Amino acid sequence: MKHLVAPSLLAANFLRLEEDLHTVNQSKADLFHVDVMDGDFVPNISFGFSIIRQIKSVAEKPLDVHLMISKPEMYLEDFKSSGADWLSVHYETCPHLHRTIQQIRKLGMKPGVVINPHNNVELLAGILPEVDYVLLMSVNPGYGGQQFIPSTYERIRTLAGMKKQLNPELLIEVDGGVDETNAKALVEAGADILVAGSSVFRSSQPAEAIARLKDPS
Ligand code: DX5
Ligand code: ZN
Repeated sequence: MKHLVAPSLLAANFLRLEEDLHTVNQSKADLFHVDVMDGDFVPNISFGFSIIRQIKSVAEKPLDVHLMISKPEMYLEDFKSSGADWLSVHYETCPHLHRTIQQIRKLGMKPGVVINPHNNVELLAGILPEVDYVLLMSVNPGYGGQQFIPSTYERIRTLAGMKKQLNPELLIEVDGGVDETNAKALVEAGADILVAGSSVFRSSQPAEAIARLKDPS
């Protein structure tokens, strides 16, 4: 399978969000990455249901919603009804992760688990058979525009080894500091989905930046 590219709307221009959404619709991107932050699990607040509903009304590609919130299990139905197609929760926020993942699937969304850079991917062994994707944070969550953490490559390789045994269909997504300088190496290490905010929307030509992430050299 060719890898997927998911532009992160956190870096879009909210004064002309519809225009940025159309740019992604017409690009080689595969998904919209939507970052929800609550000011509790992470020290930043992004946006909530009403914005996601409006994004959904224009988006022609699935919404990959990344929850950086405490107690995500309280809001799963609201994210479904707002338009989430893929929904990921942080390992660090879920004491009953298995139950939460099952609920996401039961609601008709693709469930994913996210893990912070300081946590070993081996912690995910028990949940790998239950999820459709793992989102490996390659920065500490909370902000766009941060520097990529190089130990991510080794983390991808370890997870790629685990997936062979535990869930060959699993997709590995990488989020934070992804740009055209590291895209090729990330895919070679085993990444299936590249999330990119700043490197897409801070570019003067976002569609071309997406195309370069889709076919990195
Ligand atoms: C960070 C978010 C990312 C962020 C990535 O907490 O999860 O999705 O938007 O932004 P860049 O690509 O600028 O690092
Ligand atoms: Zn994200």
